Amino acid sequence: MCGIFAYIGDKEAAALLITALKRLEYRGYDSAGIGVHGVPIKVRKKVGKVANLEDDVSKAIDTVKGTMGIAHTRWATHGKPSDINAHPHATTQSSIAVVHNGVIENHRALKEQLSGKGYQFISQTDTELLAHLVEDLKGQMGNASWLEVVATALCLCEGAYGVAFIFQDDPDLIIGARKGSPLILGVGHGEHMLASDASAIVEHTKDVVYLREGEIVEVRRSGFKVHDLEKVVRKLGKNTISPRPDDVENPIVRLELSLEQIEKGGYKHFMLKEIMDQPNAMRNCLRGRIYQPAEAPDRWEIKLGGLEKAKEGALNPQSPLERMANACRFIFAACGTSWHSGLIGKYAFEKLAGVRAEVEYASEFRYRKPLICDSDCLIAISQSGETADTLEAIKMAKEHKALTIGVVNVVGSSIARETDCGMYLHAGPEIGVASTKAFTCQVIALLLMALRLGKQRGALSEEMLNMYCAALNAVPDSIEKWMSSLTEQTQVISKNLRLATNALFSGMGVHFPVALEGALKLKEISYIHAEGFPASEIRHGGITLIRNFVPVICIAMRSDPAYEQIKQMVRDFRHKGAALLVLTDDGNTDFAGVAHFTLCCPATKLEMQPLISCIPLQLLSYHIADMRGCSIDQPRNLAKSVTVE
Ligand code: F6R
Repeated sequence: MCGIFAYIGDKEAAALLITALKRLEYRGYDSAGIGVHGVPIKVRKKVGKVANLEDDVSKAIDTVKGTMGIAHTRWATHGKPSDINAHPHATTQSSIAVVHNGVIENHRALKEQLSGKGYQFISQTDTELLAHLVEDLKGQMGNASWLEVVATALCLCEGAYGVAFIFQDDPDLIIGARKGSPLILGVGHGEHMLASDASAIVEHTKDVVYLREGEIVEVRRSGFKVHDLEKVVRKLGKNTISPRPDDVENPIVRLELSLEQIEKGGYKHFMLKEIMDQPNAMRNCLRGRIYQPAEAPDRWEIKLGGLEKAKEGALNPQSPLERMANACRFIFAACGTSWHSGLIGKYAFEKLAGVRAEVEYASEFRYRKPLICDSDCLIAISQSGETADTLEAIKMAKEHKALTIGVVNVVGSSIARETDCGMYLHAGPEIGVASTKAFTCQVIALLLMALRLGKQRGALSEEMLNMYCAALNAVPDSIEKWMSSLTEQTQVISKNLRLATNALFSGMGVHFPVALEGALKLKEISYIHAEGFPASEIRHGGITLIRNFVPVICIAMRSDPAYEQIKQMVRDFRHKGAALLVLTDDGNTDFAGVAHFTLCCPATKLEMQPLISCIPLQLLSYHIADMRGCSIDQPRNLAKSVTVE
């Protein structure tokens, strides 16, 4: 996933472009570049982090003077990370420059055609052809406007794009367009921005337009116009009538995002800020959805507004909640950490709502021929809302007329739009590449759904519902109280485990996904090989890995139905020489003299425990990675969301 930014206004663009790239760097960070309007357009680009580009630009600041420009932070898909492959890409005379997020699937064929006409390609990217293609079409299309030329070029491209173009001959025009890749327009006073992510816009303005699929926008200092890309092309050659048939109404909305939310706020890393922010994030996810009505304060209710009404224009006008209550089966489709929250969701749906649930890696599901029927519900879980495989799973479910439900953090993202209904997490922006607060909020969202369905399907009595709601509502406060002592404890344990080369995480039942998530967090940010497994399952092979000083992290809560087996396994791990850390519930002394380290978690109902037991594992990974000097917010080879297939 790459990051795009474009600015047009009265300020010097170069510094603004670099600041925006720093905000977007978490999206991808193998190279970066800027292009500032001038005659010709001045492009500077550098492999490596944005800091390298900043250094380069600062040495040549006089060469990039101008008040309109485009910028890009790249996560290589076509062509290795290099100065040449970094964006922007420009025509030979640098008269047109473009930044692009996405993949042009038919780039080979288009490139061949252009090469045949004498165009020289200097990079190995698919993006470079966009600049040449637009130049070529401009030559062919006579008096056509840049809008018409760019729209025509994009219609020839198969694949996904969020793009921004600037042109040497028009110092007051940026053209942006999106298909399968997000693009947001910031609307200021005498200035506008385009960005793939609101975090790059919020310091300029809170008024934005979320471009929709297939829209193209002309942006000038004085205003902007959104059009339907295909209609722009269709209309070409015909006499235009007024109002222009390709104009699109796309309203300006207010961003619910503050600058503070996207800054580190005194923390060393975004990941740590986001871990510590979890009580607040969870409260935001619960707010307005779980409450005790004023007229009956001993009763709890759950209201999920996003599931009450079918979206405007939906084929099936029935309320999503009603369809969910009558569903035969729920399919959770997700990737990575979001897949782990799906596993916890399965447990909750089966136990609390009494309904069949399956969990699918979106990347596996979409390449099978899964049996889906119109009484199924597919729940797509995604922090970014842009994961390509998860989007494809949704499309497959829709083809079979199943109800699709999004559990998404990023407002206005593709998954939020593509699904029939859904719940936003309201976790706030998650900038650290390793997902933390989005995970816990996903679990909360799924628990809320399970409880709401449990009530509707008659699987939960009023009394049970009240008990679970009270427990869920109390979780953020328990975590908050626990955080400060937990930080110190996890630092001490991390010091002891930081030199490990392998680590194992075990948990049973609802804690198995937590073990998987603990292992994923550790490996992705500290580069220590780690695996999660169900405690008893290790007897079937993995036990050979346990020997002297291999860290084994076991989740062993007394409320766990398999607690006795887990206890036995923990003793066994100790006999085999493991360096043992046990996470257990407050007041449990069963592991005294067995575990090298014990962390006691505040008490809650079993179904809510993953929300609590995952926190020390996140902190442990964070501190170990920090002690090893790892690049925590931007681990090697990883991008915040995987928008390529
Ligand atoms: C791990 C992590 C990834 C994501 C996965 C799905 O910390 O962040 O495993 O969970 O790439 O991304 P989303 O949730 O954006 O669909």
